Order: sequence, then C-alpha cells, then structure tokens
Amino acid sequence: MDPITNPYAPGAGQRPPELAGRDEQLRTFDVVLERIARGRSERSIVLTGLRGVGKTVLLNALRSSAVRADWGTGKLEARPDQRLRRPLAAAAHQAVRELGHPRGDEVDQVLGIIKSFALRDAASGSKLRDKWQPGIDVPAVPGRADSGDIEIDLVELFTDIGGLAADLGKGVAFFVDEMQDLGPEDVSAVCAACHEISQSGLPVIVVGAGLPHLPAVLSASKSYSERLFRYQRIDRLPRDAADQALVGPAAEEGCAFTDEALEAMYSVTAGYPYFIQAYGKVVWDVSPSSPISAQDIRVAAPEAESELAVGFFGSRFERATPAEREYLRAMADAALVRGPGDQATTEGHGDAGASPAAYGIVDELDAVATSAVADLLGRKPQSLSPARDALIKKGLIYSGERGQIAFTVPHFGRYLRTQA
Ligand SMILES: Nc1ncnc2c1ncn2[C@@H]1O[C@H](COP(=O)(O)OP(=O)(O)OP(=O)(O)O)[C@@H](O)[C@H]1O
Ligand SMILES: [Mg+2]
Repeated sequence: MDPITNPYAPGAGQRPPELAGRDEQLRTFDVVLERIARGRSERSIVLTGLRGVGKTVLLNALRSSAVRADWGTGKLEARPDQRLRRPLAAAAHQAVRELGHPRGDEVDQVLGIIKSFALRDAASGSKLRDKWQPGIDVPAVPGRADSGDIEIDLVELFTDIGGLAADLGKGVAFFVDEMQDLGPEDVSAVCAACHEISQSGLPVIVVGAGLPHLPAVLSASKSYSERLFRYQRIDRLPRDAADQALVGPAAEEGCAFTDEALEAMYSVTAGYPYFIQAYGKVVWDVSPSSPISAQDIRVAAPEAESELAVGFFGSRFERATPAEREYLRAMADAALVRGPGDQATTEGHGDAGASPAAYGIVDELDAVATSAVADLLGRKPQSLSPARDALIKKGLIYSGERGQIAFTVPHFGRYLRTQA
C-alpha cells in the first residue's frame, strides 16, 4: 500500500498514531492533577518497564495532559554521566515560564532562584566555569537553593516553585525520563524534595520513567521511597489494545486487517509496542491491498525482523564490549526454558493472548540466576561482576532481585541466539 500514507511510527519516543491501552494511566493522572489542584495530597508517579514498551511516549502524553490542565511543566532525560542540577534547572525554567504569563515580580523572584540553583553547578570547579550561563534573563537571587548540597537546594527550589504555583492557583509537574540513570546523590535529592512537598501540600509533582529496577534504585536511596511514589508498571499490550494500535491508524487511511492477520501480528509482536510499530510499518508497505492478510505478514516478517535486528537490537548490542557480549550470550542460553517441569515463570506470554509455543516461539525465563550464567561460562561469579555492572550501567540488563539478572530489551535473548 502507499508508503506515503503509512501511519506506523517505530522509533524511540516516536509518538504512535494511536496510544493504545494506556487509558487507565491517563485517567489516573487526570485524577492526580485534579486532586493536587484542589489541595489534596498525592504521591509522585513512577512508570517502569522494559525497553520499547512506551514509557517515553506515555510520559509525553501525561505531560500534554498537565499542559491542558494549565500546569507548568518541564522535562529532562537523566544520563549516567551527568548531574541533575543543570537539566533540572532548565526544566524548572520551562515550567515557570509556562506558569507565569504575564510575568510579575513573584515570577522573576523564582526565576532568579532557579538561576542561582543552576549557577551553583558552574561555580563548582568545572572547566565551563565562566562560559556557561543558564538562559534566564533575570538577576540571580543568591542565598536560596545554592548551598551546593543538591538535596538542600532541590528541596528549596521545589518549595519556592510550589509556592509560586499555589499563589497562581496552578501546579507544576516535572517529568524525568530514564530516571534509573540519576546518580545516587541526585536520586536521594529527588526523593527528599518529593517527601518535603508532599508534607507541605504544595502543588508540585514528579513523574519519573525508567527500567524495571528503578523502584529498587529509589528504595536503596531512601527507605521511605516506597510510600512516596505510586509505581505503575508499563507492559506490553494485551491483545485487544495491540489490535487497536494497528486497526485504528489503518482505518484513518481507509484500510483494514483480517482477523487472521491480527492474530499473526500478535504472535510475532507479543504485544510489545515497538514491535507493533516496526511490523506495522513493513507490513503496510509490502501489502498489495486492503485488507492486510496473514500472508502479507509472513511476507513482511523477514524484513521487519532484519530492521529490528539493526535498529532495535543491534544498536544496543554494539554498545557492549567483547567480554560483555559474552556475558549477554550466556544469559540468553541460561534463559532458555529447558523442559516442561521447569518451575520458573516465563517471559509473561501467558496472560495476554495465544500461547507463543503455538507459533514456534521459544519460551524464555524472565530472569536468570547470575550463578547460572557463571556456570555456563565456567567462571567464578565474582570475576564476572565488572561485565555485569557495566551492562547494567549501559541499561542493557537489570537486576530486579538479588542474584538474578534479566534483559531490559524484550526478545533480546532470542535475537542473540539467532546471531550466534
Ligand atoms: N500505547 C502505545 N500504542 C502504540 N504504540 C506505542 C504505544 N506506546 C509506545 N508505542 C510505540 O512504541 C515505540 C517505543 O516507545 P517508547 O520510545 O516510548 O518506549 P520506551 O519504553 O520509552 O523505550 P526505551 O526504554 O527504549 O526508552 C514507539 O515507536 C512508539 O510509537
Ligand atoms: Mg524511553
């Protein structure tokens, strides 16, 4: 069919033509916004899930909801090698600009505090000391949020921004993507600031998104974090939502899928949003006419697989060193379910649709024991810690439980085994 009208959008953070299966999260968030606006207390929100399930896209949708509710919003993406102060200052600047039209003295005062907060970073001995300036066109207000201790400063910053928002009868929401990549001091500062604003009832909320081990990162930092955040697991889509993600956008273009085609799609995508977009894109282009048939999907599969192998899997695999690759391959082998008697849970295919076994897809364990990986490599577990830790830092694997390790990328094990 016409590639020009192809509606599907595979890609990191790419807005899907239809945000399927996230109504509950969107509704919950609207309630949170409304409650905070009425002075009720609410926990901050943390979205967790594997790579490509749609965390970034959902985060952006929640941000749009906040903007529609006339809130001030700012967003940042955490990076392992970057401190929080500057990107947070930029997000705060944005949020206050959105809040404060028309601008008055009160707004300028808070902007000046954001500037002091930001400049504290430049003063701390970096090479950019004299060059870097936050793009804030008011004089800095020294003595507030600029102690140099990020925890103290963030609490003061949130308090002042929250006070401004409350005076204007609005709220402020900060969106933090890849939140697991914040450094330990920054994580603890975010927790402390959320703790403080929830106690003072100020209309500020943090919405974080990250990999499945993010709750563990937060609770390792502050034991009270479990009560501080509302955790929402973002998962692959159940069958009806996965169908909707394909059918809705096709219908907009006057096209359809047969029932068999939808079933075939679900068997190959397992409901993972990235795979739905990637397959949808190729299938659309190879299909001669509407409705798209199961046969079209069989024809499209090799091309879709090879695009995923390059764009989704390969780009990540390339970030690993040879020793890390060896570790990943051993994980893939250790994750294979060896027989029907196996006790462990499998990748979670059971709850959402047809059995993957029916389509010849191998069942995999969700997580494997690090000791099993070491056994397969004939090494001592401790000697593998550097490779494992580096892979965690690169966001390719995570440890949800002590002694266990899992891929952050769905179907990564399968990909690695086809490469071997
Ligand atoms: N609810 C949804 N319905 C349909 N498609 C979706 C949905 N959510 C995400 N997608 C699509 O899935 C792909 C991945 O989305 P996104 O980048 O938000 O995932 P992510 O969880 O942030 O991944 P990563 O952990 O790699 O950052 C995009 O192409 C997006 O368009
Ligand atoms: Mg993302």
